[in-house]
Amino acid sequence: MALKSKSVYVCSACGHETSKWFGQCPACQEWNTMEEEVRAVETGTQKKNRAISYENRASVQKLSEISANTEHRFDTGLRELNRVLGGGIVPGSLVLMGGEPGIGKSTLLLQTALRLAGRRLLYVSGEESERQIKLRADRIPRHTTDILLLCETRLEKVFDHVREVRPDILVVDSIQTMALETVEASPGSVTQIRECAALLLKFAKESGVPVLLVGHITKEGAIAGPKVLEHIVDTVLQFEGDRHNMYRILRSIKNRFGSTAELGIYEMRGDGLRPVDNPSELLLTQGNEPLSGVAIAAAIEGIRPFLIETQALVSTAAYGTPQRSATGFDLRRLNMLLAVLEKRVGFKLVQKDVFLNIAGGLRVTDPAIDLSVIAAVLSSNVDTAIERGVCMAGEVGLSGEIRPVSRIGQRISEAEKLGFQRILVPEGNLKGLEDRKADIEIVPVARVEHALRQLFG
Ligand code: TYD
Ligand code: MG
Repeated sequence: MALKSKSVYVCSACGHETSKWFGQCPACQEWNTMEEEVRAVETGTQKKNRAISYENRASVQKLSEISANTEHRFDTGLRELNRVLGGGIVPGSLVLMGGEPGIGKSTLLLQTALRLAGRRLLYVSGEESERQIKLRADRIPRHTTDILLLCETRLEKVFDHVREVRPDILVVDSIQTMALETVEASPGSVTQIRECAALLLKFAKESGVPVLLVGHITKEGAIAGPKVLEHIVDTVLQFEGDRHNMYRILRSIKNRFGSTAELGIYEMRGDGLRPVDNPSELLLTQGNEPLSGVAIAAAIEGIRPFLIETQALVSTAAYGTPQRSATGFDLRRLNMLLAVLEKRVGFKLVQKDVFLNIAGGLRVTDPAIDLSVIAAVLSSNVDTAIERGVCMAGEVGLSGEIRPVSRIGQRISEAEKLGFQRILVPEGNLKGLEDRKADIEIVPVARVEHALRQLFG
């Protein structure tokens, strides 16, 4: 039976649908994002049939009677990936791995695939040819397993092969290249992405086969395609980092089966991605000369503490409006901290350009690095280096007070482990630390002024 069709307009940013075209999306107010899509219209009978098939699908069950051993996870063979996933891949889950082109998504998944001993994995690529994938695989050492490869962009065909080879795990690289022939929209359009993802989700849930999806990220940093894609999947992992930097960070930004505080750090090498075992060592600049404008923070991202270098450059503004820029740190928070420095410590920063950078291309959200940001800015401003072997942790409040931070013990231990001699900690964190025997001197500070006096005399 031929289907009638109608046109709808779908916003490529938020997925909002309208029947008329708009220059600006009525829902998210973005300009030039409404794309036309032609949809097949279901007839009354078809709707009814679909309704019936849905009614028969599920049955009511008592919560207490549902067995929970479906939670058994697949070990991916990659420690960092396992950790970010919350302990491995959950059967029947749909995982989206987002990241900018060239960041290493395909490499990471291929590497995972090649380590996954004893499981049948089907790697579907719509982006590269078999030969390209083979060349990539040859760069990665220590293959333990063989994998099944399929270069195909038509999702119906993919499922034909899936039915035939019955994989234990399915990888689809990327969702933007997949298309359903029954959906009249071009690959990468909102409708195709949504329909393909929905079908893959249905497959994962019904078969228990976990599906790993690759998704590209737009310039603005959102996962391309509608927001609905993020709502459909169980887990969203984001692979980030500067393409010109060796380090890559794998972050979980949504996880139905684990914590989103997890973080994996990789180094991109000539022979694939290597997990970084001791992030602190890589985030600290090697060198003996202490430099002005550098302060070391004892930070925690995910569940791991590490020491990280905050670098600041303060210089007299050449033009009227001073510039403020921050890499790896929230710019509004930097402006707030600069205002605290002006108001509470009396430093005149109005005519100064301030640049802040977190070493290693890392983006840090831990408020405990506030104190090191302030210290780095001041150190650059007075052109005096902070003594070697000193690090700090503390959130800075609007009135210049240093507020307690989480898990201070872990931060101190990490600093101690790396051979630091002194750590500045919030006074409010001292409780419980009194009888701690440490090889590191713990200096409590209550206000920004105290901390700066400790550092610069
Ligand atoms: P790729 O994994 O294809 O990224 P994505 O799938 O996210 O677009 O690209 C990884 C980049 O890393 C590519 O520019 C080549 C480089 N690379 C290495 O440096 N070492 C390697 O071993 C491999 C396989 C790739
Ligand atoms: Mg790729």
